[in-house]
Amino acid sequence: MNNIKNVAIIMDGNGRWAKLRGLPRTAGHLQGTKNIRNITIAANNMGLSSLTLFAFSTENWKRDEKEVEYIMRLPGKFFEDYIDELMENNVKIALIGERDRLPVYALSPIEEAEKRTKDNTGLLLNLCLNYGGQREIVLAVKDIVKEGIPTEEITEDTISSHLMGASADPLDLMIRTSGEYRISNFLLWQLAYSELYFTDVLWPNFDEKCFVEAIESFNGRDRRFGGVKK
Ligand code: IPE
Ligand code: IPE
Ligand code: MG
Repeated sequence: MNNIKNVAIIMDGNGRWAKLRGLPRTAGHLQGTKNIRNITIAANNMGLSSLTLFAFSTENWKRDEKEVEYIMRLPGKFFEDYIDELMENNVKIALIGERDRLPVYALSPIEEAEKRTKDNTGLLLNLCLNYGGQREIVLAVKDIVKEGIPTEEITEDTISSHLMGASADPLDLMIRTSGEYRISNFLLWQLAYSELYFTDVLWPNFDEKCFVEAIESFNGRDRRFGGVKK
């Protein structure tokens, strides 16, 4: 059995979930947000170190303005409903993504949650908002150049430590819901040796049982990291 610590999820399929019910796409985002609470509590109970969730990509700005605004109001609603429970569960919140472009009504509730949970020692919940894997690497390179680090001293660790989610260890498992088989510019660097798990289940329907199934699949994998098992 593999030791699992760090899991990431591309929470996809909110729009299709809503469409199947004849509801507006926003209803899917609301239901998906409620599910973040369920999977976070489950992950914390399982003793995971971190859960990194893709909530809004650098490409998602292309969407209809109304949909974007609705999504940007969800962090405020999420923390209004669940911050007390997350505190009780010792969950620590962190935002991963470029903060500049986020509206205040999205940013301030998250930063408040980060502040309030900063000393918690349970699950680290990374929320990726206005996040893009390529952008993250570009920003890391810029910082490395700015700091004047000599080229011969640059190693994989230099890059890792300049990424936005530098506190997270390499990812063990990356889950994508809704039957899409792509990375969509999620954690490009951190995914180097992650196990990948794809399921047709739409994110709002991805419950604790589905999560356990994904982890069981991970447990059955033979992780070699390029080596050969004796
Ligand atoms: C994921 O669900 C949420 C975000 C990308 C913000 P989608 O909104 O992409 O749902 P589908 O893929 O259209 O079903
Ligand atoms: C990826 O889903 C981004 C998030 C889940 C936040 P998308 O629905 O935006 O990805 P594509 O367009 O199918 O690649
Ligand atoms: Mg999608």
